[in-house]
Amino acid sequence: MSKTIHRLYIALLLIIGVSSTVLLSVNGYQYYLQPIEDRPFHALHDYFEPAGLLGHGLGILGTLMMILGVSTYMLRKRSIMLKFGFLKHWLEFHIFLCSVGPVFVLFHTAFKFGGIVAVSFWSMVAVVASGVIGRFIYTQIPHSVDGTELSEDDISALNTELSQALKYSSSLSPLTLAKIEAAIAQEKYHVGFLSSTLFVIQDYFRLGSKLKSLKTELLTEGIPLDTIKTHILPVLKQKLVLSRKSGALHSMQRLFKYWHIFHLPFAVSMFVIMVIHVIVTILFGYRWIF
Ligand code: HEM
Ligand code: HEM
Repeated sequence: MSKTIHRLYIALLLIIGVSSTVLLSVNGYQYYLQPIEDRPFHALHDYFEPAGLLGHGLGILGTLMMILGVSTYMLRKRSIMLKFGFLKHWLEFHIFLCSVGPVFVLFHTAFKFGGIVAVSFWSMVAVVASGVIGRFIYTQIPHSVDGTELSEDDISALNTELSQALKYSSSLSPLTLAKIEAAIAQEKYHVGFLSSTLFVIQDYFRLGSKLKSLKTELLTEGIPLDTIKTHILPVLKQKLVLSRKSGALHSMQRLFKYWHIFHLPFAVSMFVIMVIHVIVTILFGYRWIF
């Protein structure tokens, strides 16, 4: 998938997610804002209620999306049946289906969370919330374009490549190059699990100001702004990010392992209670359009 096609793919997923949420909110807010006891008298109750034409349909669609999002990613990650496409793109598909699916389920509940199925609902909320955190940790572990984790050797080879690019694509003096390398290397020294985790979070937000100070330093050395912007800053940014990631690599890998302990069990409890919920509704005679 080329860069442009990938951008279009992400834009399409975003447009689908945002527009369906906006459409559901705009069309349904008058019903959802009614007190629960008044809802049966609303003209569109049979449409929006959890067992209604739209409400029930959204429950089914949202659930199918989550099942598809989880199963395809798990199959692709283990290369069972699905062997094509980059893992990274399948993760993006997982995130899309498992974010929009829960939104549909939220509209299915019509914002009332009663009975045992509420446990499934809150487990779903917990999986989505932990997913966002997991996604952040995931991005802190360097991956190749196809989504496989880079080893320490791969990272140091990439770093050398970036240093070479900096050396040959811009006319920096050896002294300036040495200064840049030293400023970037400073970022590396973070030992201990907690300190490197805190450092990664802090540093994520400090990247802009660090680049700015390096840019000011280069300007004072008389390097033209154009060269800095087009040749130096993009490489510096990559080097800074890589340096931060390699400095905290082991901690992030550990954190990601612990993170799976949260994400997975909530997903399991959500699905188990959802299956019971579906069986009960079918036994009570709710068949949607069938
Ligand atoms: C994770 C997925 C799901 C969650 C979290 C969920 C949650 C809920 C909640 C909170 C309610 C409202 C309970 C109340 O009235 O207080 C509800 C009702 C209902 N759900 Fe789901 N649901 C899910 C999936 C499904 C699916 C896949 C179906 C159908 C195949 C379904 C069918 C229904 C029906 C028919 C009702 C109305 C039951 C009634 O009025 O007594 N749900 N659901
Ligand atoms: C109801 C919603 C969700 C469910 C049921 C779900 C379920 C799962 C499961 C079962 C896995 C383990 C896959 C494996 O290791 O084989 C997983 C991995 C993952 N999910 Fe989700 N997820 C949901 C939502 C999200 C969201 C909203 C995000 C991000 C915003 C997210 C991010 C991730 C990440 C980063 C991984 C780890 C990938 C890896 O270790 O390779 N998930 N999810």
